[in-house]
Amino acid sequence: MTQFDPNIPSTTESGAPRQSDAHSLTVGADGPLLLHDVELVQKLARFDRERVPERSPHAKGSGAFGTFEVTHDVSKYTKAAFLQPGAKTRMLQRFSTVAGELGSPDTWRDVRGFALRFYTDEGNFDMVGNNTPTFFVRDGMKFPDFIHSQKRLPDSGLRSGNMQWDFWTLSPESAHQVSYLMGDRGLPRSWRHMNGYSSHTYMWVNAEGERFWVKYHFLSDQGVENMTNEEAERIAGEDADFHRRDLFESIASGDFPSWTLHVQIMPYEDAKTYRFNPFDLTKVWPKADYPRIEVGRYTLNENPVNHFAQIEQAAFSPSNTVPGTGLSPDKMLLARVFSYPDAQRHRIGTNYNQLAVNAPINAVNSYDKEGFMQYHHSGNAPVYAPNSYGRSYEPEATVDNGWEADGAMVRAAYTLREDDSDWVQANALVRGVYNDEQRARLVDTVVGSLGDVVEPVLSNVFQYWKNIDQQVGEAIEAQYNEGK
Ligand code: HEM
Repeated sequence: MTQFDPNIPSTTESGAPRQSDAHSLTVGADGPLLLHDVELVQKLARFDRERVPERSPHAKGSGAFGTFEVTHDVSKYTKAAFLQPGAKTRMLQRFSTVAGELGSPDTWRDVRGFALRFYTDEGNFDMVGNNTPTFFVRDGMKFPDFIHSQKRLPDSGLRSGNMQWDFWTLSPESAHQVSYLMGDRGLPRSWRHMNGYSSHTYMWVNAEGERFWVKYHFLSDQGVENMTNEEAERIAGEDADFHRRDLFESIASGDFPSWTLHVQIMPYEDAKTYRFNPFDLTKVWPKADYPRIEVGRYTLNENPVNHFAQIEQAAFSPSNTVPGTGLSPDKMLLARVFSYPDAQRHRIGTNYNQLAVNAPINAVNSYDKEGFMQYHHSGNAPVYAPNSYGRSYEPEATVDNGWEADGAMVRAAYTLREDDSDWVQANALVRGVYNDEQRARLVDTVVGSLGDVVEPVLSNVFQYWKNIDQQVGEAIEAQYNEGK
């Protein structure tokens, strides 16, 4: 049952009419409680188990359902059914912050999660991105350390600028993303007013089997708007759910937000010789090299009716691909493909894909089975493949979305190419994209974040910014010293 029915009287969980929703069973009106008060025991036991673990990163968020419609013909790049001209697909989106816990304020400076699910006829396609086109690290081995540094100190349980800057300055590959985060886009006005990006490079495959590398950009039709540090701080105190409320109320009032999907396409062979590693998600592909191509647009037009069932239990994963799409040799992406379903088996339960919000709209025929809370099953059909009794299985191997890989097994950084640098694109953003006022605000924001930062981290912060942009680094150091 998904909806409340006013004709059904209050019952126990096993369906019997309840004697009371208000009074416990006692020996006399003033007497002690009785263990066989099934109604009270059930109510308290279920209450004790209401919370599931929050998402490890991206705990605080919310979302809505919508419709995606393809407006332009990209069939020469992908055969995915939901990306063919005119296709309309129901979808779900969840927005989030990265570091804060479930009750944390929506307006803390942070990257915003931008998770999309498309319920296609060929299975669920998820695009689990952020509102930034890049990321802080380029090897999944460092991701837990990164998240630990953004969360809380082991002794006081407090957040720590010192810890954050220590990790970032010792991980120079973070420079581009940190320049983004400390800029105006680190504080979006609302979820409706920000763009989304796949950040990673993915694969598309067309009907002829030709492969392409692709980056997804979801551009807000509302425009990009941000807020100042002062506004964000004030709102964090006044309304911790500011962004959640904004989205819910906009949709409830019929003001439906929408985003236009563009892609950058790189021919398969280009990746081998491109001037920097195109699978390194600390970098963007310049639009001069790979221009944006419009694909379609989605509109969020339906609020959840139950936040827990439809948003908290939603399990997005970059491993959810469909025919005509695929992964890439990005080491972060490949680590994520393992991590999300693993986290969700723990967070929600092994059969999380059977919940309505996670189930694909097409039929599933999988030999994976049982475990806690199995709901769908295959009756008495064979439980093994191959079998001689009519249950289908796939004896062949058909991989059309792979790539060549060969070499000795190593633990190593990506092979450096001519234009691979941690600082060049960060500088292009800070010096080439930000204007004087934006740079001044960035300096204010960085200096404002250094309150608890001590040596040797402090000197590392000044040097890190000088590596990105000498003048900005000097301005940060001078302003910090003035304020001491
Ligand atoms: C190897 C690197 C990474 C690992 C191991 C990782 C792991 C995780 C895990 C375990 C969750 C919680 C999933 C759940 O409980 O449902 C999560 C959530 C999320 N991650 Fe990552 N992550 C990584 C990198 C990234 C990157 C690069 C992006 C963006 C491009 C990203 C975007 C998100 C988003 C948007 C969510 C929230 C999804 C939702 O709304 O339910 N993550 N991540």
